[in-house]
Amino acid sequence: MRRILVTGGTGYIGSHAVVELMAAGHDVFVADNLCNSKLSVLDRVARISGRRPEFAQIDIRDRGALRKLFAAQSFDAVIHFAGLKAVGESVAKPLLYFDNNVSGSVALFECMQEAGIKTVVFSSSATVYGEPPSVQFREDFPTAPVNPYGRSKLMVEDVLRDVAKGDSEWRVALLRYFNPVGAHPSGLIGEDPNGVLNNLMPYMAQVASGKLKELSVFGNDYPTIDGTGVRDYIHVVDLARGHLAALSALGKQTGVLTVNLGAGRGYSVLEMVNAFSEACGKPVPYRIAGRRPGDLAEYFADPSLAHQLLGWRTQLGIDAMCGDTWRWQQWAAANAAELA
Ligand code: NAD
Ligand code: UFG
Repeated sequence: MRRILVTGGTGYIGSHAVVELMAAGHDVFVADNLCNSKLSVLDRVARISGRRPEFAQIDIRDRGALRKLFAAQSFDAVIHFAGLKAVGESVAKPLLYFDNNVSGSVALFECMQEAGIKTVVFSSSATVYGEPPSVQFREDFPTAPVNPYGRSKLMVEDVLRDVAKGDSEWRVALLRYFNPVGAHPSGLIGEDPNGVLNNLMPYMAQVASGKLKELSVFGNDYPTIDGTGVRDYIHVVDLARGHLAALSALGKQTGVLTVNLGAGRGYSVLEMVNAFSEACGKPVPYRIAGRRPGDLAEYFADPSLAHQLLGWRTQLGIDAMCGDTWRWQQWAAANAAELA
C-alpha cells in the first residue's frame, strides 16, 4: 500500500482514479480547489469504495497551503489531475490557463521537491501533437499544440522533463489521454460538465435524456468510414487504471515515461450515435451540420508503448462507454439537486 496525493481528485477523471486507487489498497488524499467539481462526489466515491478519501480544499497555486499539507502528511507519489480543460475558454483567457495549469504545476512540483516527493503522474493530452505523419499517433510524433490549453499541457511536460534531467531521483509519467468518456459502472460518478457542452458524449447523453433537442454532427464529408469524424474514445475506468499501471512502472525506474493512453482504434460520430441509441433504447436525434473549425478528420492512439512499458491496455468497449454514461446521466437527472 502506498499513500498517494491526488490533485483534482474530485473531478471527472480524478474521482474515477481515486476509486481505482482505493480498490487497489492505496491510501488516498485528495486536494482540489473545487473550481470545477463538488465535494459531494466524495460521498459517492465512499458509497462505491466503502471508504472516504481524506480531502483538503487547496489551490495548487497556493505554495503556503501546499507546504503546510506536505509538512503535515507524507506521500509516496502525486497523481496530478488539477487543471482547467476547456479549449475555447483557453483561447479567450490564455493567462488564466497558463497561470492555473502551468504556474500551478510549477508550484506543486517545487513543493514536492522541497518535501522530497519525487514521483508524479501527470495528465497530459493528445492535443500536444502537431501535424501528424499518420492517423495513428505515436509518442515520438512532433508536438505543436494549436491552442493555449494544449500549449499549457506541453509546457508542463517540458517542465517535468527538465526537472527529471536536473535531478535523477525524479520518476515522472506523462500520460497523453485520447478522448475520455464513460462513467463508473455503478452510475454514481461521471462527468458533470458546466456551461456550454462541446464534447460529443455529454452532448449525446443530454439529447437522449430530452434536455437538448438534437445532436449536430459536425461534418459528414471527411475521408473516413462514413464521412464523420473518427476519435479514439477511452472508457474513464480504463483510463483511471492506466494511472495505477504508471505508478507501478515508476516504482521500477527513475526518469520520464511519455505514454499515450488510448484504445488504439477509432469510432466515427455515427458509430457512437448508434451505440448510444442502443444503450439508451431509443434513437438519438441528430442532424448533419457543417464541419467544426479546427477538427481533424481522424486520429487514434498507437497504444503499443503503454502496453510495453506499463503492461496496460484498454478492456472496456463502446457498449460499456455508452451504457455507463447513460446510467450516470439517469442518476444525474434524478439527483439534480445534489449536483446543483
Ligand atoms: P475536471 O475539470 O473534471 O477535473 C479537474 C479538477 O481540477 C477539478 O475538480 C477542478 O476543481 C480542479 N482544479 C482545477 N484547477 C485547480 C487548481 N488550481 N487547484 C486545485 N484544483 C484545481 O477535468 P477532467 O476531465 O477530470 O480532467 C483531469 C485532467 O485531465 C485535467 O488536467 C485535464 O486537462 C486532463 N485531460 C482531460 C481530458 C478530457 O477530455 N477530459 C483529456 C486530456 C487531458
Ligand atoms: N462532434 C460532433 N458534434 C458535437 C460534438 C462533437 O459531431 O456536438 C464530433 C467532433 O467533430 C469530433 C468528435 O465528435 O469528430 C469528438 O469531438 P469532441 O469534442 O468530443 O472531442 P475532440 O476530439 O474534439 O477533443 C477532445 C477534447 C479536447 C482534447 C482532445 C484531444 O475535447 O479537450 O480531445 O485529447 F484536447
